Amino acid sequence: MNRLVLGAQWGDEGKGKIVDILSEDADVIVRYQGGSNAGHTVCIEDKKYILHLIPSGILHKDKICVIGNGVVIDPASFLEEKRALEELSVNIENRLMISEKAHLVMPYHKVLDEIKELQLGDGKIGTTKKGIGPCYVDKYNRVGIRVCDLLSNDILKDKIHTNVEQVNKLCDLYKIERFDADKIFKQYKEYAYELKDYIRNTVYYLNGVVKNGKSVLFEGAQGSLLDVDFGTYPYVTSSSPTVGGAFTGTGLSYKALNNVVGVMKAYATRVGNGPFPSELTGETGEEIRQKGAEFGATTGRPRRCGWLDLVAVKYAVMLSGIEDIALTKLDVLDEMEDVKVCVGYEYEGRKIGYIPSQLEEFAKCQPVYKTFKGWNKTNDISQYSDLPKEARMYIEYIENFLGVRISIISTGAKREETIIR
Ligand code: IMP
Repeated sequence: MNRLVLGAQWGDEGKGKIVDILSEDADVIVRYQGGSNAGHTVCIEDKKYILHLIPSGILHKDKICVIGNGVVIDPASFLEEKRALEELSVNIENRLMISEKAHLVMPYHKVLDEIKELQLGDGKIGTTKKGIGPCYVDKYNRVGIRVCDLLSNDILKDKIHTNVEQVNKLCDLYKIERFDADKIFKQYKEYAYELKDYIRNTVYYLNGVVKNGKSVLFEGAQGSLLDVDFGTYPYVTSSSPTVGGAFTGTGLSYKALNNVVGVMKAYATRVGNGPFPSELTGETGEEIRQKGAEFGATTGRPRRCGWLDLVAVKYAVMLSGIEDIALTKLDVLDEMEDVKVCVGYEYEGRKIGYIPSQLEEFAKCQPVYKTFKGWNKTNDISQYSDLPKEARMYIEYIENFLGVRISIISTGAKREETIIR
């Protein structure tokens, strides 16, 4: 069984924990898009691991992990993550592969990311400033530098020089310090030395894995509503977290995929700017933020919190053919008097059940809520039937609305705090 785990909202749904649980059944875990903008948190016993680039499956000591061709890799961030894992006694040697086709995040990508945000002023995206957008721009502009380029000094030097020459023209325009191509080349040559043992043709490797009947788990980053095509453009990331990204980002065909699991929090959050109709800006939002520790795993920024938006999740279900939902952080809503879910929007006096493509229209949408009676306590519960009746009503309403089963319910950060139905 080859599964895909992806975010059904705006990212930060708790994918790390779900991937960690489902990795148990997989031989190989592969990340297919995004970069170190992601922050996947996994808690095992009293240790907390935050992964940015390396698939969360790495925490299972007998699993192979792959950073697929669709990922953009910042070598500095990768090496830092590798060291942090080693400090926590997780060894990645002989268990991690990096696609030679993946693109490299370069120092100028991060600076360009920051400049773009400054230029946008109040209209800024609120990016993680990890250089993700500019790196994908270079990829699609066909001037990107790929992991395989690290293996040839001549090619690497040549490409860095060509790109830095162009970037420096922009630096002059923006009146900021120019980049030194030789210095970048020297630094990336050092990275090449540290990365070389991980570099593989992962496209052939992954297809071989599937052909030999072994199982693959695709690990998505960010979330469906941040997808560059289907999300709330332009307030999106620059990759495809939805199902299509899994194929272009690994080189596996649709035939290799058997099941899509969407991860959905019991409420909604969003980091960065962009419309968010069910956002709670008052006390309730703050309560959710504190109880749910809703602060970015990558940037530490407070996340915007709101009620669960089922219109948005239903859209994600449609886009990726989600068959199972993993519902996370249900316990964060414990002890609330009422719990609401957004079941439609009101737009210019009429009720709609879709997300308008035009951002200005979406920004005007007001949430239409269904209210549920709150429940007392869900954490520490491992049997579905032991959940409070009110929580079960909430869950079963969501299942009916989405037409998808909720197969996994997470009621706390630890592996044990999970109900499998
Ligand atoms: P970028 O991916 O850094 O370019 O940021 C674009 C948008 O995606 C911003 O709103 C970010 O806050 C958001 N974003 C990027 N990565 C994540 C993530 O892992 N979780 C949640 N939001 C993210």
